[in-house]
Amino acid sequence: MSDKRRIIIDTDPGQDDAVAILLALASEELEVLGITAVAGNVPLTLTERNARIICDVAGRTDVPVFAGCHHPMTRKLVTAEEVHGKTGLDGMEIFEPKTPLQDMHGVDFILQSLAEHEPGSVTLCPLGPLTNLGEAIARDAATMQRAAEIVLMGGAYFEVGNVTPAAEFNIYVDPEAAAHVFSSGIKTTVMPLDVTHKILTTPERIAAFGALGNTCGAAIVGMTSFYERFDRHKYKQDGAPLHDPCVIAYLLEPGIFQGRFINVEIETRSTLTRGMTVADWWGVTNRLPNATFMGDADADRFFALLTRTISRLP
Ligand code: RIB
Ligand code: CA
Repeated sequence: MSDKRRIIIDTDPGQDDAVAILLALASEELEVLGITAVAGNVPLTLTERNARIICDVAGRTDVPVFAGCHHPMTRKLVTAEEVHGKTGLDGMEIFEPKTPLQDMHGVDFILQSLAEHEPGSVTLCPLGPLTNLGEAIARDAATMQRAAEIVLMGGAYFEVGNVTPAAEFNIYVDPEAAAHVFSSGIKTTVMPLDVTHKILTTPERIAAFGALGNTCGAAIVGMTSFYERFDRHKYKQDGAPLHDPCVIAYLLEPGIFQGRFINVEIETRSTLTRGMTVADWWGVTNRLPNATFMGDADADRFFALLTRTISRLP
């Protein structure tokens, strides 16, 4: 009986996804039951391969990796090569990974894992568009209720959008899937741009990964040095937000983050505000709270946790 917290990482690597996966695999507190890839930053054929590359780099070719959905529930796929590069992992060497791709579909793996484990014992950690979770809820909502919690990276309120003025990328790509998640009744915790934009990869913080002297530290230096150029140019800040590792850091050290239990609805009808997370931060509606929406984070505590944990990897 594992006393570790069981998680499934749902992901669209993506350099920041890659750092989140490395953090999870390095931690002694988490048991990664599997990694399900989804189309997002780059197409599914690349996100599933990239997830397997990261498992190889972490020395964890044992981690089961699954391909999930290759396009949003009802919409055309929107990708983000302008941020992540054509490979999705620009900044690190791309190779054919040893970690195999499992035959089972990612959505089937999520549902099977929840059915097989005790209710409330598996946490779902989506780091990309919510298509795989949305499909799982649409297919078998009762089994999805067995999840302990969904801790996701997505959305924005005070920080507003990054892919449109109104929407953050993960929610924008598949708003219908996000609407399924936020109306599911499953305990949900949200790491929006409001906190990830406080978690910046400054030169000193990137240098600290290089100083670890391990392969994974060097890989993070390469990936973040490439990945940060887009947001540095856009936001004119001394670094780029490291979005997805916030999800894993929350599992390991929740006190890094502060937020509120509020109502969050997803815009699915408007073209102008498609994918907006309408967060009732000030409680001005009588809509029932459905998510813990984070609003602040301690960046120094975050990077101290991330750097010391990554030091455990090859
Ligand atoms: O908006 C940031 C999110 O979109 C991150 O998960 C990043 O990897 C991209 O998927
Ligand atoms: Ca992502």
